[in-house]
Amino acid sequence: MQGTESKTFDIAWVREQFPSLQLRVDGHVAAFLDGPAGTQVPKQVMDAIQNYLLNANANTYGAFLTSRRTNETILSARGAMADLFNCGPNEVVFGQNMTTITFALARAIGRELKPGDEIVVTTLDHDANVAPWRALEEKGVIIRQVDIREADCTLDLEDLKRKISARTRLVAVGYASNIVGTINPVAEITKLAHAAGALMFIDAVHYAPHGPVDVKALDCDFLACSPYKFFGPHMGTLYGKKEHLERFKPYKVRPATDTSPECWETGTQVQELIAGIAAAVDYIAELGRHCDATVKNRREALLAAYRATRAYETGLVTRLIEGLLAIPNVRIFGVTDPKRFDERCSTLSFRLGRDVFGRTRNLHLGWQFLRFEFVRAARCRTKRRRAPHRSGALQHRR
Ligand SMILES: Cc1ncc(COP(=O)(O)O)c(C=O)c1O
Repeated sequence: MQGTESKTFDIAWVREQFPSLQLRVDGHVAAFLDGPAGTQVPKQVMDAIQNYLLNANANTYGAFLTSRRTNETILSARGAMADLFNCGPNEVVFGQNMTTITFALARAIGRELKPGDEIVVTTLDHDANVAPWRALEEKGVIIRQVDIREADCTLDLEDLKRKISARTRLVAVGYASNIVGTINPVAEITKLAHAAGALMFIDAVHYAPHGPVDVKALDCDFLACSPYKFFGPHMGTLYGKKEHLERFKPYKVRPATDTSPECWETGTQVQELIAGIAAAVDYIAELGRHCDATVKNRREALLAAYRATRAYETGLVTRLIEGLLAIPNVRIFGVTDPKRFDERCSTLSFRLGRDVFGRTRNLHLGWQFLRFEFVRAARCRTKRRRAPHRSGALQHRR
């Protein structure tokens, strides 16, 4: 994790912010174990959504009060996401979810590609960062898929270097794996992509809940994430370098503005949820201020929150890995050496023996132990997958 010291992560304060943690199931406190479904949301996100619907519910660019408030809501959310990404507000695009945004972006970029142009994707990625690029095969674009190192479920960087060439137009890589928790060296991969003259697209859906994003430091061209994974509502957001958002042409209705970033937001947006996104970022910033009262602005508060969260999660995942390794017949997929924990987030997959069908069964745990997921078959066994259509070999659902 970037940053040095970590202040205390006040778990009791954090829990108080989430009303849904009061839920009881058969008289017991509920445990929310469906990580891929996203996080629970704090009270201020609920309030922001309700407040928008009560006081600002309209469409954009009218002269009347609620429409003006709608414009302000969207602007303020762009500012919040700009602080989270470390970019300009005009470089923030909202959309239905990461998958939909990525399909739209791939179509727009695809308008400029020719048969024989190449795109590099990886086996470690969620299919939402593979299928949209593979859709361009219809235009004659060649997709090259980078393999993983099975021993620790990290990206095979030598394979990546071999697959990037003068024909590569875009490299699409995930920041962190939602299955095995591997954090990829995306800054280094961005340099490799740029050295070949290619664009770099990062899927940060799984990383953004666990670590700070800094698109300026990464120098990536695009980066997408989903606020519902970091305490916000079910939506997606995209960072795009201003020059790219202005140059590439999204598919849109003719009367819609050509001005970026709005031209990327087709149709009427879910404005109440955009209000919720700003509140989610503000919640993380509030957590940061709670951990470190010396922060001077929202970006610094966000970084403080991530430092504290990272320290807390590292403690949990260390205990979890130690405990699992003590159980016979458990295989953990991914990095297990504590010295290499900067290469992983707290999401974990492990196999517990075999089920009656001879298949393996993985358990995938993460965010404060609240992630729990059965995964069919040993996803790290990439050799068994069918090339070239083995898109997202580690993926099975959202
Ligand atoms: C790593 C990763 N990428 C992409 C997605 C798809 O995101 P969305 O549900 O916003 O389309 C997910 C969803 O779980 C994910 O974990």
